[in-house]
Amino acid sequence: MARQRVLTGITTTGTPHLGNYVGAIRPAIEASRDSSLDSFFFLADYHALIKCQDPELVRQSSKEIAATWLALGLDTDKALFYRQSDIPEIPELTWVLCCNAAKGLMNRAHAYKAAVQANEEAGEDPDFGITMGLFNYPVLMAADILMFNASHVPVGRDQIQHLEMARDIAQRFNHNFAGVFTLPEAVVDDNVAVLQGLDGRKMSKSYNNTIPLFQSEKQLRKSINRIKTNLLEPGEPKDPEDSTVFQVWAAFASPAETERMRREFENGIAWGEAKKQLFELVNAELAAARERYTQLMDDPAHIEAVLRKGAGRAREYSVPLMEKVRAAVGIGALR
Ligand code: TRP
Repeated sequence: MARQRVLTGITTTGTPHLGNYVGAIRPAIEASRDSSLDSFFFLADYHALIKCQDPELVRQSSKEIAATWLALGLDTDKALFYRQSDIPEIPELTWVLCCNAAKGLMNRAHAYKAAVQANEEAGEDPDFGITMGLFNYPVLMAADILMFNASHVPVGRDQIQHLEMARDIAQRFNHNFAGVFTLPEAVVDDNVAVLQGLDGRKMSKSYNNTIPLFQSEKQLRKSINRIKTNLLEPGEPKDPEDSTVFQVWAAFASPAETERMRREFENGIAWGEAKKQLFELVNAELAAARERYTQLMDDPAHIEAVLRKGAGRAREYSVPLMEKVRAAVGIGALR
């Protein structure tokens, strides 16, 4: 059997938070240590342009996200780690795929449909403020995936439709031309925690309820103290299932430590004490990585060198694949 090729992209917008860490980064780095598979991780900076037109923010976010993955111990000799925009074959393939993707299929993309619907509800023209970037987003994503013949793509639920579109585009292309592409599969892990934020809703930048991953120790303590709790007094039993403090605890603690905390809740641990223990637990897991993160952020040349090296390795795949695609569709040197 062919080796599993696992690939995933990280859109470079925003600063990584504990929810990103628990839900995506930590499991991805763990999985990349499995030597029975090949891992490809990349900064999806062309995707970032769809949401963000502020060059400083795009740059800053690329730097923060690259530093985060490196600080958390991604082994870049093993996993391929690169920046989408360093692979010129990706936008090239995007165009070829655009010429093979049904517009009707793209009309059904959730993100585009939601934008149209919001316009209609606001009484605007349906396409108000909608760029071709947003509309073509799933084709660019298909190019990211098909370029490297990825077999498995770990994503959140919201991305499943994009994987179906990538398969659909690949199938159509394979049918029209010599079969070039592997059909990728979405991998959605229901076991990884979806972390709650400060207000108890899903931790998300759009709810403004996040705990940044690498803020200072002092800030981390402050953030944890801001997690919303109820008014139960010390000594009164507390329901762990109903508590963000407990939920975050469970995402960082061993099963035995989680059971201990469950009993502490039932025995009426004070909120202040529970938060103090939570801070210590989270801080212990992150402290060394935070140190490395700070060093990396002060040494962008090092990050850049790692990314360039990754791009060099990635292009060993993308250059020949693009040659194959060009030949398949009839573009290139005359013979
Ligand atoms: N669209 C993905 C997200 O927002 C990021 C992404 C871009 C991606 N290209 C990809 C994920 C290719 C997996 C594979 O989460």
